[in-house]
Amino acid sequence: MILVAGGAGFIGSHVCAELLEQGRDVLVADNFSNSTRDVIGRISEAANKRLSFAEIDLADKKAVSELFSRYDIDSVILLAGYKAVGESVQKPLMYYRNNIDIALTLLEQMQLSGVKVLIFSSSATVYDGNSPSPLKENSPLCQTNPYGRTKRMIEQILDDTVKTADMSVVSLRYFNPVGAHKSGLIGEDPNGIPNNLMPYIAKVASGELRYLNVFGNDYPTPDGTGIRDYIHVCDLAKGHVKALEYAKNHSGIEYINLGTGRGTSVLEMVCAFEKASGKPVPYKIMPRRAGDIAVCFADCSRAKELLGFEAALGVDDMCRDLWRYQSLKNSN
Ligand code: UFG
Repeated sequence: MILVAGGAGFIGSHVCAELLEQGRDVLVADNFSNSTRDVIGRISEAANKRLSFAEIDLADKKAVSELFSRYDIDSVILLAGYKAVGESVQKPLMYYRNNIDIALTLLEQMQLSGVKVLIFSSSATVYDGNSPSPLKENSPLCQTNPYGRTKRMIEQILDDTVKTADMSVVSLRYFNPVGAHKSGLIGEDPNGIPNNLMPYIAKVASGELRYLNVFGNDYPTPDGTGIRDYIHVCDLAKGHVKALEYAKNHSGIEYINLGTGRGTSVLEMVCAFEKASGKPVPYKIMPRRAGDIAVCFADCSRAKELLGFEAALGVDDMCRDLWRYQSLKNSN
């Protein structure tokens, strides 16, 4: 059975659906701090298979120990953790305490229980934003906020741990995951006003927000707006299943980018979403957002070489599936 720590979140729910669709047994552990309980039923409905779940705090040693005694866990996917960049700057201790504690608690319990395979959800945010794209796994690293630092610190903890333990770890460095499951049942559901581009655009198209703030049109890019490597969350989920297979047959640690290798600007995304939804997405040009970089996209050769993984879906698929999710949510 695969323990998906943080399996009720945006990425976790899609990873669970993919695992279930591939016939695997899944145990979700989540405290629903940034998700809702009904996600569990919707994952199961989307994948047409049941899953197990436990509502626990993954930093609670006793609860985690009981979980490992109760279920036959053979591998762990660690996605649980706080993830808002701005909030991490305001509440650094909360981020360090929660994200690092969860990783340490799970690693200690994995060692006690003899569980050797771990997939970690890292982020492209660990790279130095001044490095030119495409970013390779050996590109220079530098984090500019506590959230990013927790990701890198956990990678370092994993790196040290595999030197002394017979373990197999893959740290997946996500670029910008967007979109939703084709069923429209699961997707990204941020509380309040979204920080990220795609959920914001979806709310503008649906009329919940009046216009998009485009953060800067004076970047050195063809249309002046920021360029990112958006990857469909279902492709990202498939990358996790491939990483699990890889980890089962290898030992030590690998760092692997999950992106598409293609960059898309903010205004290109606005056009793609207008096309997919048939709705206008009005926008206003605003000053640059602090901490943003002009261009960030992945070199995906290691994922292809080691995992045999390549993203299959493009920006139009991401917009179509996000719009389906948004429309279904609004009609309920
Ligand atoms: N943007 C806007 N308006 C918005 C939101 C975003 O113009 O309302 C722009 C940004 O300036 C940027 C692009 O859209 O050019 C993408 O911004 P996101 O906030 O969607 O994504 P980021 O690339 O800034 O951040 C994402 C994740 C972080 C992660 C980072 C690096 O949200 O968790 O990628 O991997 F750290």
